[in-house]
Amino acid sequence: MKQFITFEGIDGSGKSTISKLICDKLKSEGYDVVLTYEPTDTEIGKYVQKCIKTKTDPFVTAFTFIADRMQHCKQIKKWLDEEKIILCDRYAESTYSYQGAQLENQINDPIKWLQELSENRILIPDRTFLFVIQPKESLARIQKRDELIPFERVSFLEKVQNNYLKISKDKRFLKIDATRKIDELVDICYKDILSQSL
Ligand code: ADP
Ligand code: TYD
Repeated sequence: MKQFITFEGIDGSGKSTISKLICDKLKSEGYDVVLTYEPTDTEIGKYVQKCIKTKTDPFVTAFTFIADRMQHCKQIKKWLDEEKIILCDRYAESTYSYQGAQLENQINDPIKWLQELSENRILIPDRTFLFVIQPKESLARIQKRDELIPFERVSFLEKVQNNYLKISKDKRFLKIDATRKIDELVDICYKDILSQSL
């Protein structure tokens, strides 16, 4: 079974809902599970939240997200050593896709640059679920939120989603139609986590 599992996708694609339900289901079956997320709730994670809201320089934003992840990995490593299952709501592909989109006109091949910055400095998940949905539809889901952040626009999320699709060719990724029913999505991910195959 897979131990370190990440959930990726554009805002409103259902990552938090599904990861929480899978966590509850695994717990109810007696598994030792941790549900964690990025940006983290540490000082550095809070700073990065501020970066997004205040439209801070994208390079600063990118470095800070990666720094937050490097710290987070130390904790994830401890949980892995304790043989816990780790479910992580957003991880490295969020940086490659979002900051890749922010930096697209600023440097040549930003995704590659961001991947190289992270290489050998962060853990590689056993499985990454990519929730795919049209930005218009995901944004409609989150209109009720108190505050939308600057990334939450159709044109930007289209670029982000294209990046996600571009970088998720490896067998580690499972692309999932996020418009399916919640129960079905939980079932697909749950069965996949318990299975050996990639
Ligand atoms: P994310 O964490 O990816 O931003 P959320 O899990 O917060 O997304 O989901 C955004 C909204 O969409 C929530 O109101 C949630 O209840 C709803 N939602 C999530 N998954 C589905 C689904 N498969 N079908 C319909 N609504 C969903
Ligand atoms: P989050 O609170 O998980 O957003 P949501 O629940 O709407 O999916 O993340 C906040 C925002 O941070 C979201 O728009 C994605 C962005 N983000 C990045 O730009 N880079 C990153 O590396 C991460 C982890 C998140």
